[in-house]
Amino acid sequence: MSPSSQPGAPADAGQPTAPEGRGYVLDEPYTARYFDLQSPARMRHSMRCAGFDPATPIQGFRYAELGCGNGATLAMLAALHPDSSFLGIDLNPAHIAAATALAQSAGLDNLMFLQADIAQACAMPWGAFDYITAHGVYAWVDAEVRDSLLRFIGRHLAPQGVAYVSYNALPGWSAKEPLWRLLDHHIADLPGGSVARVGEGLRFLEFLRDAGVPYFAQNPAAGAHLEMLRAEDPRYVAHEFCNRHFAPLYCSTLFADARRQGLVFVAQAETQPNLPFERVPPACLDYLARIADFEEREVASSLLRNDGFRTDLYMRAWPAAVDLEDSPLWDQAFTTLTPLRDIPAELVCGSRRFHLSDELVDAITEGCAAGRLTMRELAALPRLRRHSPRLVLETALLLELSRHYAFLTAPAPAEDGPLPECWRLAPGSAGVLLASRLRENGFGHLAAPRLGSAIRLDVMASLAVLCLAEPDADAPGARLADWLNRDWPALLAFRVTESWAGGFLDDFRAHWGPVLRKLGVIGAR
Ligand SMILES: C[S@@+](CC[C@H](N)C(=O)[O-])C[C@H]1O[C@@H](n2cnc3c(N)ncnc32)[C@H](O)[C@@H]1O
Repeated sequence: MSPSSQPGAPADAGQPTAPEGRGYVLDEPYTARYFDLQSPARMRHSMRCAGFDPATPIQGFRYAELGCGNGATLAMLAALHPDSSFLGIDLNPAHIAAATALAQSAGLDNLMFLQADIAQACAMPWGAFDYITAHGVYAWVDAEVRDSLLRFIGRHLAPQGVAYVSYNALPGWSAKEPLWRLLDHHIADLPGGSVARVGEGLRFLEFLRDAGVPYFAQNPAAGAHLEMLRAEDPRYVAHEFCNRHFAPLYCSTLFADARRQGLVFVAQAETQPNLPFERVPPACLDYLARIADFEEREVASSLLRNDGFRTDLYMRAWPAAVDLEDSPLWDQAFTTLTPLRDIPAELVCGSRRFHLSDELVDAITEGCAAGRLTMRELAALPRLRRHSPRLVLETALLLELSRHYAFLTAPAPAEDGPLPECWRLAPGSAGVLLASRLRENGFGHLAAPRLGSAIRLDVMASLAVLCLAEPDADAPGARLADWLNRDWPALLAFRVTESWAGGFLDDFRAHWGPVLRKLGVIGAR
């Protein structure tokens, strides 16, 4: 397929020449995972939390991802937005091949991938994109690619468009950056592939830690990070540490570079740092309030928070500002994302802890469970009317940080009715996307149209959805038992019978069915 025959392609893009690595890892593919902060719904939500109301389209938009890896995020977004067009650009031919295969197997025709260096792609006549994202690229590439990435955004972002750039940040990486230097120095001349070399590098770092060298003794964050790396997929670690270039940066550096491309920082895609009452400890809020300049205030917040990873959103100009009292959040439905019995009694919400039994939390949970009420309607319920509406909204925003609650982007469907025996997944490609990489990742992502994003399910829940959504699911229990015994023998400590699997599916259907239906995941066949 020529790029120009696909959505999002420029008229005369032509075939790119084979790119060179520029010191970026090419011999091992990166892990393939959906990353929900790149969804237009999440980006818009975060900007609303920051007090802005962007006019970026949420339907019929054009979206480009730079350094798209295996295309897992783009494929999910393309499935959720069939009326929009998506373009993924990546240097690595194996990534582009895997991304193209995923899009084809999911039947997605609104998505194209291009093997190209960002520096190369920048000069192509793409026209304007409403969304441009680059996740996990900026801090790991050389200065020319960084520059090209920002120039691509500066050149191709639509007037109301939103750009997302994530990166490892300072000061959070100050104590950890020497890990990369030590490792890089140790493995620079070793033979073999990136995964083998980084494995040797991690063993070397463990040796240094166990020897009690002052670097580890005086930087507990370095030891903790080493532990985390040990538990990670080795391909993830190779892409984090085996590149010739790695430079975490202060957000002030990126703000200044983005300004040179006509871009201003608006918010982080991560919700928490945007919430005015949660971005730093309450004792520091007065200090922050005295900083008049928006970007300087963000720079100070980032230092206070010790940011080690940032997900910056940029636009050409700040969108309209709205107070929380007038926020469009009031007109969005709010709901739970998991069955009530699976919500923990103690909820970790950013820096706060709530109990499900707290009167306000209990009333919000009860009122929002069906996913039919907007925030305004919720706050007007008899049990919630005695609290100020603002407190109800702020509590909802905090509850969302637990990941068991969320604001929805689409209104509730007309009627609930009884749950069908056999589930139709919406969109149709959701099953393929859920199944892809399930074994590799140990979890799956299921497209949730009312969320404008996907929910994460563990293996058992993913298999249950796939069994119940089979068109000829006359014996879903037998199918689940078969899958578990044959393909996942280590998951459960016993041999699964059809009747056990049938009971599991009945329970899953009863508890998860209503949740999946209110999120727009399933409908009647
Ligand atoms: C850490 S991975 C992130 C992939 C994807 N965004 C994700 O989160 O799954 C970085 C990606 O950037 C790509 N990349 C690195 N340098 C590039 C360049 N100069 N041009 C295009 N892609 C590049 C790599 O091949 C890799 O797929």
